[in-house]
Amino acid sequence: MKILGIETSCDETAAAVVEDGTRVLSNVIFSQIPLHARTGGVVPEVAAREHVVRIVPVVDKALKNASLCIDAIDAIAVTRGPGLVSSLIIGVSAASTLAAVLRKPLIPVNHIAGHIYANWLEEKPSDKIKFPVIILTVSGGHNELVLMEEHASYQLLGETFDDAAGEAFDKVARLLGLGYPGGPQIAKAASRGNPRRFNLPQARMGRGSFDFSFSGLKTAVLNLVNKECARNGSLSAEFIADCAASFQETVCGVLTDKLLSAAEKFKAKEVHLAGGVSANQRLRAMAQEKVEGKYYCDQNGKKIRLNSSFKLRYPLDLAYCTDNAAMVASAAFFTVKKNGGHQPIGPVLADPELRMYDVVQ
Ligand code: KG4
Ligand code: ZN
Repeated sequence: MKILGIETSCDETAAAVVEDGTRVLSNVIFSQIPLHARTGGVVPEVAAREHVVRIVPVVDKALKNASLCIDAIDAIAVTRGPGLVSSLIIGVSAASTLAAVLRKPLIPVNHIAGHIYANWLEEKPSDKIKFPVIILTVSGGHNELVLMEEHASYQLLGETFDDAAGEAFDKVARLLGLGYPGGPQIAKAASRGNPRRFNLPQARMGRGSFDFSFSGLKTAVLNLVNKECARNGSLSAEFIADCAASFQETVCGVLTDKLLSAAEKFKAKEVHLAGGVSANQRLRAMAQEKVEGKYYCDQNGKKIRLNSSFKLRYPLDLAYCTDNAAMVASAAFFTVKKNGGHQPIGPVLADPELRMYDVVQ
């Protein structure tokens, strides 16, 4: 089954063709990053206008790169939310129009379910993903810990009370005078810094909680920056590097500890990282270290031994970490497959079947 995926939930206009959920025939992403770098963040109206201009050429290119004409497509999948409504509506309108004109099924996809399925895009027949899986989805807008016991079935274990991890990276980068988007800039500065120079607070949200909070950490960095500016008048390159490294280490610590304690509790076979922040090399390395060393740290920093072993996966192709449409087509395929071929066609922005994530933010 060949599915054309469309994604416009934030600032990437993307279209892709994926066969049977795992074989990527094309993956076209038009990133608006240079446009939003000027304002240091996404301006919804500007993003929406750019989607309008890009959507048709991007879909066209996805079909061309897959060497397919539109008639060879079996269904059209589109991100229905959560995301910026003014951006979502462009993808949803394009997908609905194509589906109506071509009389193809339309499959609405939750954006976080899309991120989750990024790891299936690299699944090999000789190395199939084994359930149960715990997935940590960390991006600019989302921070969820999800248990999957089978395809297209999601149990939300924890989420953020305030900022998502990616948002915290972006805000701290701004405090340190680094560019947009902040994640890659913090990672670059951190590679030259001392992660142990500043002891930053880790919000653990109570014993056994799988929820997150990053606002206190952000305030702690703001206080450090204000103190340093009062003392020296400006931020030295050394201060910026050490601050970025300490911040990154703290965020990655909380994320990996919660991921692995959830994996132990729910007897997972695999642990996955997904979303824009899963591109972070320190996050990947720290998760690998803990999986191989068979431990995580509790809220007091004490090492807790893991009884089970887990396979760690994250998208090797960084294009599958940040927003893309291949992940949307993959999630659509496995949802349809689970429903026995029934395609959830219907009002895309108000699909009652997707209760878990049906808030369009
Ligand atoms: O998944 P995504 O493209 O969009 C959302 O669904 O929000 O994620 C974008 C986020 C941004 O906050 C960006 O700073 C972060 O992912 N990000 C990173 C890295 N690359 C992107 N964060 C940390 N380290 C990175 N290398
Ligand atoms: Zn995303």
